[in-house]
Amino acid sequence: MPTIALVNGPNLNLLGQREPGMYGARTLQQIIEGIQQAFPDHHFPHFQSNHEGELVDAIQRFGAESKGIVINPAAYGHTSVALRDAIAAVRVPVIEVHLSNIYAREGFRHTSITGGACAGVISGFGEEGYHMAVGHLLFHH
Ligand code: DQA
Repeated sequence: MPTIALVNGPNLNLLGQREPGMYGARTLQQIIEGIQQAFPDHHFPHFQSNHEGELVDAIQRFGAESKGIVINPAAYGHTSVALRDAIAAVRVPVIEVHLSNIYAREGFRHTSITGGACAGVISGFGEEGYHMAVGHLLFHH
């Protein structure tokens, strides 16, 4: 069964209650269940952390165990060379997702350090962005 890993960064454990006008009313658990329902024949191991090093560990681990990785690095996408290097180090394709359109927001969100190491970046499509990324990894890689 093809495996696509889902990695979510800091504060995304608060989805549902965190700025719902910006990030939607659904929890991370609901988003993950929605992906599993949309792609019932595939397996989606998931990891969320508020800690940068744990996210590096997850990328390395999933890079060895999965067909691809969908990552929402959250704020670390704007700051973390370590996450970028981890993405560049793994052999499987990685797609970056942001729920909000980072280019329509504050200037400090306009740069994605991690995005340049990814196969592609999807930003501004809410929860659907995760589905777009998973679909691409499953059917085009
Ligand atoms: C986010 C966008 C980031 O700028 C922000 O720090 C987040 C969430 C998004 O999904 O829109 O935490 O990655």
